[in-house]
Amino acid sequence: MKIAILPGDGIGTEIVAEAVKVLQVLDLSFETETALVGGAAYEAHGHPLPESTLALAREADAILFGAVGDWKYDKLERALRPEQAILGLRKHLGLFANFRPAICHPQLTHASSLKPELVAGLDILIIRELTGDIYFGQPRGRRVAVDGHFPGAEEAFDTMRYSRPEIERIAHVAFQAARKRHGRVTSVDKANVLETFQLWKDVVTEVHAQYPDVALDHMYVDNAAMQLVRAPKKFDVVVTGNMFGDILSDEAAMLTGSIGMLPSASLNDRHQGLYEPSHGSAPDIAGQGIANPLATILSAAMMLRYSLNQSEAAARIESAVDAVLSAGLRTADIWSEGTTKVGTREMGEAVVAALTGKTIGKTITKS
Ligand code: IPM
Ligand code: MG
Repeated sequence: MKIAILPGDGIGTEIVAEAVKVLQVLDLSFETETALVGGAAYEAHGHPLPESTLALAREADAILFGAVGDWKYDKLERALRPEQAILGLRKHLGLFANFRPAICHPQLTHASSLKPELVAGLDILIIRELTGDIYFGQPRGRRVAVDGHFPGAEEAFDTMRYSRPEIERIAHVAFQAARKRHGRVTSVDKANVLETFQLWKDVVTEVHAQYPDVALDHMYVDNAAMQLVRAPKKFDVVVTGNMFGDILSDEAAMLTGSIGMLPSASLNDRHQGLYEPSHGSAPDIAGQGIANPLATILSAAMMLRYSLNQSEAAARIESAVDAVLSAGLRTADIWSEGTTKVGTREMGEAVVAALTGKTIGKTITKS
């Protein structure tokens, strides 16, 4: 088994280092190889996704990814910006199925921006289509408008599109995931306005005929955004397109207390996967040692479960995270009165301590 480690930029390097420590104490046999990606790769090789990094990602069984991006690259031409690295990996590896589980740990009920009773016991699985939609649709670009409200003016355009097979395969993923959970799928669309999402709704409805044991409902994305903060526990599996999934998963993250808690898995049809926290590189707090590594550590657990066939080790990581939260350790993003504030490294070391049967907290070294 080979794991490609791509820490990336900003807090990416700090949080991935903790996840790697956690993987190393598990006593599993796997090989790791680290490579640059994002802004770090641009600095060193002139491209955010160098050929060598892509080649490593292709041959690995799984990829553990940190985060990419920094405001200082905002002026670069789009093809060279750090974000192109993650978009390129998704596209080149065909990682079309993105799983973002939004789980509110009971210890963090009070860290959520919603009332505790709304989020206690929350367990939603957002399944985001990841290789299509307006993110990748062609044509796109800038030009001088020949029609529209201001002919002759500069304009920009992107193309939202989905083909039937793209919708079919993500619908199957969602129905199959729902079978292993509470048997309910909410498909989120904007069929009232967009042709793309009328096809989406039609195809999801057709595929549903093969899953009579799963309940399906459809919701417009604006309403879904509202229901997520009104009664989030009504959702089980949410399946949606690339852009709506991007937005709704950040919203769902806040229900769990912090986006620093939300892991993700992006899979292709060969179970090869890329695992990354759902949050970004947070350049504003990079280098301070205060970022929450738990989303990355939980992503490593998803990696063991989905790509490396080690569900027992995955469960061990998840219980260790549970134990450090129960011990009252909190990074700044999830801290509340009465808990102990720790940094990135202390949090990672506490998870390692929990995994190796040491007393959590005793091993904390003040940095
Ligand atoms: C995410 C991120 C990415 C996305 C960015 C970094 C390109 O926001 O994984 O949700 O928009 O998909
Ligand atoms: Mg996002």
